Amino acid sequence: MDEIVIDGGGKLQGRVKISGAKNSALPILAATLLTEETSVIENVPHLRDVHTMVKILRSLGVKVRMATDRIEVSPGKFNKCVAPYKLVSTMRASICVLGPLLAHLGRAQISLPGGCVIGPRPIDLHIKGIEALGADVKIEHGYIVARSKQLVGSDIYLGGHFGPSVLATATTMMAATLAKGKTVIESCACEPELIDLAEFLRKMGARIKGVGSPRVEVDGVERLKGAHHTITPDRIEAGTYMVAAAITRGDVEVEGCRFDHLTAVIDRLQQAGVKITKCANGLRVRAPGKLRPVDVTTLSYPGFPTDMQAQMMMLMSVTEGISVITEKVFPDRFLHVSELNRMGSHIFLEGSSAIVHGVKRLSGAPVMASDLRASAALILAGLVAEGRTDVSRVYHLDRGYERIEDKLRALGAKIKRVKK
Ligand code: EPZ
Repeated sequence: MDEIVIDGGGKLQGRVKISGAKNSALPILAATLLTEETSVIENVPHLRDVHTMVKILRSLGVKVRMATDRIEVSPGKFNKCVAPYKLVSTMRASICVLGPLLAHLGRAQISLPGGCVIGPRPIDLHIKGIEALGADVKIEHGYIVARSKQLVGSDIYLGGHFGPSVLATATTMMAATLAKGKTVIESCACEPELIDLAEFLRKMGARIKGVGSPRVEVDGVERLKGAHHTITPDRIEAGTYMVAAAITRGDVEVEGCRFDHLTAVIDRLQQAGVKITKCANGLRVRAPGKLRPVDVTTLSYPGFPTDMQAQMMMLMSVTEGISVITEKVFPDRFLHVSELNRMGSHIFLEGSSAIVHGVKRLSGAPVMASDLRASAALILAGLVAEGRTDVSRVYHLDRGYERIEDKLRALGAKIKRVKK
């Protein structure tokens, strides 16, 4: 199992190119199942989760050709509808195939995703969405078994206890594209990845309005065709490098990211004293002066993203003063706290808030990654800690960051991957 070893210290300098968005690529690859025709997806990041989605497509009998950052998917007359536990248990986003399989084949059998370290991840809203379109849904032997001769458009309220759901919005929207008649979905998530998915669906011939707002309208069509699409840049990867620049007091150009997708992150960083300016093809991030503690509350988009919570906490843990980080989307998403405290942070949990007492310095230590974004925070900690940090279980990191050690080394970090 690989580990990443970092010798802390040193300012990050230079340019880093942002990859395509993982959370866009996964639902878009699943959406290719809505047609028999071939689709071509460009700017696809090389990530473990993308490989898992490709394995699921191939296990359904779909032909998939991968080349650098381009994937060609040719469903043809595939007729398998089972997404097996073996694959789904490694990646919750496998549920993205539920809507397309049901809409295209009239049946879908998806393993229930099972537990997740960032907290309870129910799928009731996904089921609510497809049941409202007339699907018959049962949970049998650990699988969601959904059937429908013909989905029918309907008015659906998709609001959840913790706000809107990104992938439940995707599931319902994708299923509605081939339903008879009009579907109106209220309380949708508004994430940029859903706008990217809808753009792809429209290229396939879907009739969708309002994505990016809480109310989405879909007029069902008979069939969809193959399409060509380029994935939007990964705003969470971009946010992570922005924090890396700030935490090392560096000067980094984050190339290819979208300013408009990062407004909440930019707002918090600027409040903390980080200098962020637009440049030709992205953002320039510098932190010459002393930073200030800021409070952060995670919310659904356009609020502060939960996927940036751990990284922002890391920055606040080495910023003198007290800041409060409140997690409103996944209230238990704090597995990074104990590992950061092992490196000398002073972070205390109070319900779904973390009280962060900024410290002057961290010391390097062996630490263990628990989930994707927690592992990113540990890498950031290693960049500023005194001495050596060994981050184990980096397979979590590889799920969502393409060649992170190469990109950081190119910015001047003393970082390498070692095989254990
Ligand atoms: C997406 O997950 C992202 N994953 C997550 O990113 C991200 O953290 C999350 O959205 C929130 O932004 C992908 O896009 C592949 P949700 P998703 O449904 O759609 C509750 C990363 O690090 N809920 O929007 O699964 C849920 O428990 C990953 O890249 C229900 O109650 O998240 C949570 O509290 C981690 N019932 C809230 O809604 C449901 O049926 C929002 O979750 C579904 C969700």
